[in-house]
Amino acid sequence: MKTTLKTSGSPRQVAADLVVVAVPTKEPRIDGALADLDEALGGVIAAIVARGEVDGTSGSHALVHVPGTAEMKATHVGLVGVGDASADHLRAAGAAGARIAAGVRAGSVTLATGGLSADAVQTVIQGFGYAEYRFDRFRTGEAAAKPRVARLTVLSGEAKAAHVQRADRLVSAVSAARDLVNTPSNHLTPTDLAARAETLGATTAGLEVKVLGRAELKKLKAGALLAVAQGSEEPPRMIVMRYSPKRRARGTDVLGLVGKAVTFDTGGISIKPANGMEEMKMDMGGGAAVIESMALIAQMGLPIEVVAVVPSTENMPSGTAVKPGDVVTAMNGKTIEVINTDAEGRLILADALTYAVRTQKVDRIVDFATLTGAILVALGETYAGLYGSDAAWTERVRAAGEAAGDLCWELPLHPDYQSLIESKVADLSNASNKRLAGATYAAQFLREFTDGVPWCHVDIAGTGMIGGAGTGFGVGLVRELVEGLAG
Ligand code: BES
Ligand code: MN
Ligand code: ZN
Repeated sequence: MKTTLKTSGSPRQVAADLVVVAVPTKEPRIDGALADLDEALGGVIAAIVARGEVDGTSGSHALVHVPGTAEMKATHVGLVGVGDASADHLRAAGAAGARIAAGVRAGSVTLATGGLSADAVQTVIQGFGYAEYRFDRFRTGEAAAKPRVARLTVLSGEAKAAHVQRADRLVSAVSAARDLVNTPSNHLTPTDLAARAETLGATTAGLEVKVLGRAELKKLKAGALLAVAQGSEEPPRMIVMRYSPKRRARGTDVLGLVGKAVTFDTGGISIKPANGMEEMKMDMGGGAAVIESMALIAQMGLPIEVVAVVPSTENMPSGTAVKPGDVVTAMNGKTIEVINTDAEGRLILADALTYAVRTQKVDRIVDFATLTGAILVALGETYAGLYGSDAAWTERVRAAGEAAGDLCWELPLHPDYQSLIESKVADLSNASNKRLAGATYAAQFLREFTDGVPWCHVDIAGTGMIGGAGTGFGVGLVRELVEGLAG
């Protein structure tokens, strides 16, 4: 979808299949673009608004078929209420516009944003783009040929081209992350994921990508990642991306991003039940968000140095797989008793965190991981679980998520939880048989690998995939966070 800005003119004159008009629903006024369209349509819009068909509720909408006699180019007009103009409602308005576009098979859409601020316009574009997303790579025939919105023209007197581009780039990066998450594991192995990162590195200025394989991981003594990978025919990859801006904002330090990328999680020897296991192709959502947000930050040229570390592997049961009770040594030298091979995410993240803090010398760190079913039970699909070792840093991450619509809810760490990660034979255990504080237990474990560097962990098991489809959760959060660091 190509998005362009038009700063003046009437939506009547724009050649598009559909004109979507954002209706201010607190005090609906028929002026500006609305009045112009209303006139062309003989008062139909005023009637719809007066009857309350498009009201303050988020996502409310109406569709008008333009009669051939009307003096305008579009064949359809969609009205979408912007509710209370909160980010949620603005996104819902954009999404309603995209659904109308799909309904009338519009190939080109004009979005008339009336008096909405530049920020609000971006949020509507975001909602439109997110809702317009489809994953049809594996469909053939008619389904694959379904028309899409190829052109979105944003009509706004407030937004500048840079605002539209900022929103458009976010939508593209989120869509790219969703594509990765939705791609089945036979089409997206750790090697394929690394190739995607390398392609981004080769095509994006300032972005350098290095991929470590089994041999390098052995040299680094990444025993936890290698233990998870040893059950699979597919070799593991540690994907390392560094974005070095042309000019680094004064006084800023190096941000580290870590993302879990298990391209398929069977559970290993502690195998998962068959029902719903296909969703475990999405156990790389954290890695996908981190990889695509690195490209986004680099494209935007943000003045912050960022390093991403994405450990990637399959988790498979086999004759060579790690077994419950096995003890492995992580990169930082700590020994881990593998109580449950399905708690593989924390194992691979352990080595990725060590690599980030020791080898890449990051000053602050955030990890994203589809880590625990327990976070789904606690927070559902609305909020991700947020844990942190530094209150100020954790608040920054939370606020960035809120601004982006990637909602995070902070949950506590406490020394008392330490007893959950004790092992009878090793420094740590990767799972406890007590069914207590499952998501916290995982976070407490990860903290052991952060060397005291201010760190946040975002458990996206509930928010990274919804209804069997990837969401791209995390990309928007990272962009907000990096923009905030840049000042
Ligand atoms: N990838 C799963 C977590 C998950 C569950 C993600 C549901 C998305 C939806 C993770 O590797 C896992 O299996 N976690 C276990 C940990 C347990 C064995 C301690 C879990 O949550 O059951
Ligand atoms: Mn697992
Ligand atoms: Zn997993």
